[in-house]
This record gives sequence, C-alpha cells and structure tokens, in this order.
Amino acid sequence: MARPQVIERIQAMQNASDEARGQGLRLTLVPTMGFLHDGHASLIRRARRDGDVVVVSLFVNPTQFGAEEDFASYPRDFDRDVKLIDACGGDIVFAPSVEEMYPDGFATHVDVDGLTEGLCGRSRPGHFRGVATVVTKLFAAVRPHAAVFGQKDAQQALVIQRLNRDLNLGVEILVAPTIREADGLARSSRNVYLSAAERRQAPILFHALQHGRDLVEAGARVRETVVSAMRAQVERAKDAEIDYVEAVSADSLLEAEMLTGPVLLALAVQFGRARLIDNVLVPVGGRSLESS
Ligand code: PAJ
Repeated sequence: MARPQVIERIQAMQNASDEARGQGLRLTLVPTMGFLHDGHASLIRRARRDGDVVVVSLFVNPTQFGAEEDFASYPRDFDRDVKLIDACGGDIVFAPSVEEMYPDGFATHVDVDGLTEGLCGRSRPGHFRGVATVVTKLFAAVRPHAAVFGQKDAQQALVIQRLNRDLNLGVEILVAPTIREADGLARSSRNVYLSAAERRQAPILFHALQHGRDLVEAGARVRETVVSAMRAQVERAKDAEIDYVEAVSADSLLEAEMLTGPVLLALAVQFGRARLIDNVLVPVGGRSLESS
C-alpha cells in the first residue's frame, strides 16, 4: 500500500480508526490546514513518538475565517504536504472536502465561552467557534487517543483543552513548542505573504516578546509597564500594524493590573497581507510551564 494512506471520507476514516483500535493500537492526530512547514513537522514527529498510528488531517476550514479574511487565497499544496507527512512518519492523511465536513443543512456549533473573548477572539469574531466545531468533528471522525497542537496558537490550544474537558471527549491533548526561523520569526503558513521588506522586519515580534520576558524575569509585575515596553519595540517596525500586544494570565487569558501567576505574553500584528501571531509563556510565582 502507498504510504501514507489518503482518506477523504469520514466514514472510511472512522472504519480505519475502529480497525486500529480493535488491534489495540494507539491513534495520535495532528490537525492542520496544510501548506506544512517545520512547525507542523515537529508536531507530526511528536505524534510519531506518541502513537502507533499517526493521522494528519489536511483541511482548510472555511468556518474559522472571517468574511474579509484569506480563506480563498490560503496557500495550498497537497502533494508536497503528503510527501512531508510521509517523511515525518505519518501513516494516514485525512483530507475531507468542505462538502464532506459541512453538508447542506449543517447546523451545530461548539462555542467555548470566556477563553475566546480576548486576544484573537476579540479581533476575529466567530474564529474560535469555527476552530472548536471543526476540531470536535475531526475528533469524531478520527476518534484519536491523543492529539497534538502547537503552543504557537496558545489561545487555540487552551480552547481545545477546555472543550475536550467540558464535552468529555477523552482525547489526550499534547502541546508542542513553537518552531522558529533562525532569526526568531515563528514558522507560519502565512509567512509566504510577507514581502522581502516585511520579512526583514517580522523578527521584531519575537524580540518584543523576549524583551517582555526579560522584564518579567527581572521582576516587573505591572502589566501596563510590560505591555508598553513590548508595544514600543513592535512600533519600531515601520510596516507593523498592531492588532494587540498583551500580557494575560496563562490559564484564564484574563487581563489583570498586576502579573501574579504564569503569564502569557502574546501579540498579533499585521504586516501587509500577513496577520502574524506569536507568544511566550513566562513563569511567575514559581510554577513551571514546561509544555509536553
Ligand atoms: P494550522 O495553522 O495549519 O496549524 C496546525 C497546527 O500546527 C496547530 O496546532 C498550530 O498551533 C501548529 N503550528 C503552527 N505553526 C507552528 C509553529 N511555528 N511551531 C509549532 N507549531 C505550530 O491551527 C490550525 O491549523 C487550525 O486552526 C486547526 C487546529 C487545524 C483547525 O482548523
């Protein structure tokens, strides 16, 4: 059989999953929207170490894009993705069509309250409803024992942990560290949108986060001080349009005047066509923040 196996139908995916489960095998899922890069590759390798059967889903999910966003132009390269999945040890590529996932009459949505109100949820209304709904459907199609997500999308990882717990889906959620270019820019499928000049400026995002982390590690506890310092750094990039720069509780994503527990420093910045996000976790108050 050609490796990896490509499955396009939900029923066929459920059958393959049942068969693997029947043999006592552990399934580990890596949900993606394709146009894979080193960040995705590290998630697939993490899944390879975790499970017996590694499933990678490729699905550009229309419901998580706003009307003005880049669904139609989102980069796609199926053949290259399948080769990369093979090279990283993936066994099954689950690649459903939009009609397969959202047939006529589709009417059910998953909303996670609270966690989705700030950060990307504020500037992308409906985005996390789309993410939560599609991930619930992917879990139902693949029925994995575990699923791997990236710390790069910190708010998304928290939302998925919460829905998995609240809906008793019983999937072990693994969160893998952010993979970066040599100059610090977080790998993203959307980095292809950057012009040469924007690409040169983009590492300022990680530098600003590192500066924020240095301040917190040196004892800064007033949220506004840390946020203004990070903002000032980002504003040095002439093409940067800030969506948000934030310091929030790493658990609740709520803003508080003083930083008391583990902090998530997070930002979203538009460079031309590319909306880039990045974050770092900073322990405060002695709790470790190792990701699995
Ligand atoms: P996508 O943007 O393709 O990302 C798929 C997974 O790769 C996510 O868990 C994301 O956090 C992770 N990832 C992206 N860039 C990364 C990097 N530089 N380092 C480490 N991990 C990285 O996120 C989505 O797709 C979608 O919202 C999805 C969960 C598939 C639902 O449609």
